Amino acid sequence: DTKQDIQAQPNQAEPTVRNREIPPVQDQEDELDNQKRHLNVVFIGHVDAGKSTTGGQILFLSGQVDERTIQKYEKEAKDKSRESWYMAYIMDTNEEERVKGKTVEVGRAHFETESTRFTILDAPGHKSYVPNMISGASQADVGVLVISARKGEFETGYERGGQTREHVQLAKTLGVTKLLVVVNKMDDPTVNWAKERYDEIESKMIPFLKQSGYNVKKDVMFLPISGLIGANLQTRVDKSICSWWDGPCLFEALDAVEVPLRDPKGPFRMPILDKFKDMGTVVMGKVEFGSVREGDSLLVMPNKDQVKVVAVFIDENRVRRAGPGENLRIRLSGVEEEDILSGFVLSCVANPVPAVTEFVAQLQILELLDNAIFTAGYKAVLHIHSVVEECEIVELLQQIDPKTKKPMKKKVLFVKNGAVVVCRVQVSNTICVEKFSDFPQLGRFTLRTEGKTVAVGKVTGV
Ligand code: GTP
Ligand code: MG
Repeated sequence: DTKQDIQAQPNQAEPTVRNREIPPVQDQEDELDNQKRHLNVVFIGHVDAGKSTTGGQILFLSGQVDERTIQKYEKEAKDKSRESWYMAYIMDTNEEERVKGKTVEVGRAHFETESTRFTILDAPGHKSYVPNMISGASQADVGVLVISARKGEFETGYERGGQTREHVQLAKTLGVTKLLVVVNKMDDPTVNWAKERYDEIESKMIPFLKQSGYNVKKDVMFLPISGLIGANLQTRVDKSICSWWDGPCLFEALDAVEVPLRDPKGPFRMPILDKFKDMGTVVMGKVEFGSVREGDSLLVMPNKDQVKVVAVFIDENRVRRAGPGENLRIRLSGVEEEDILSGFVLSCVANPVPAVTEFVAQLQILELLDNAIFTAGYKAVLHIHSVVEECEIVELLQQIDPKTKKPMKKKVLFVKNGAVVVCRVQVSNTICVEKFSDFPQLGRFTLRTEGKTVAVGKVTGV
């Protein structure tokens, strides 16, 4: 039984995005058409905002974790002198994460409501792990931005250089079009469900969200919660706790998010996040375009290896086919595990993804390191879908006037913070990218240097 095989060997490889060993509530239907709708939700926000705690609580409330396990975590947390962290242990499963109280790898888990299957991606908030956050956010349809209302904590996250800001900007660039902003720790003694604090945070966040490109009226929603005590998550917060809140709880808000339109008939594209050996070669990733069926012939790009699909798994369940938006494990024949790298793309044969060492892109410069200017020769790390690769700007082609959005006449040799510029980007290894206008998920990227996001961009020519 292949299902058991997969479960029996969870540690064959340690992927950056690991599957937590929490089984789904129900078996999925075999056929795409009568499946529940599915959404990928990424939890983002500053370190210690309560992302893992809230994620853990959601799993507990939705029946994915039993009381006994919670008690075990309570004891373990106490032994580590981290009493209040037991809920986070549901998502933070490795020892380093539990000892330090910080998520490192993107935690992954599943839960369901009446109408929707959710995949939760619990991103790390610490600035050292932003590349992992990028990988999590690039797989998401909707973001839950967790903000701590505790005195001083909102302020630190919102400062320049705080991850509340960086995560919002990254999320927008990476295609997270909808945001639920949860103002967390409302139970904290410094907050005590005060409406003033909630309003203060909302009013400071709105201009920033607008500036980051979100349509606050249409695509953003705020709500107060306590991840730790589980208030306003599965059911609306009791009036005796919070008299002024008349809005929805988090589950209601998540259920109301529309599933983005996805074309199951488009050319197949699945960026590979990880791979391991298990009765053949198994690759993991999210389908961005098209569908895949058992028996399909595909290409592993950029190497053009011809492969056959032996089996397709959604979570732990084998399915005959799967469509866009699904997180899959696909067992392949015709390729060795060693010949695949994360960042490769599983692609249809008829219309394969382009493989390039150079492309043209429109970049927006966010914040360069002290005194740096952005010019030909500038080097950075490129993050595009599941690719992380050194790159160099080889030529600045045109500067774009941010007001008119039109190219400026003057020849451009260098630009500074805030500029929008079209340039040629070179990478040393062949990578798979698409024009943003054709395949947005494979055409949007970020540039980072020394642990900071310096620019965001779109591929305009390949
Ligand atoms: P990173 O993964 O490191 O980015 O942190 P995180 O956002 O996942 O935060 P985590 O869930 O690990 O929680 C950090 C601390 O905040 C822990 O001590 C939690 O108990 C505490 N905390 C989280 N949510 C709440 C809440 O709703 N109320 C209170 N009072 N404390 C909370
Ligand atoms: Mg965490």
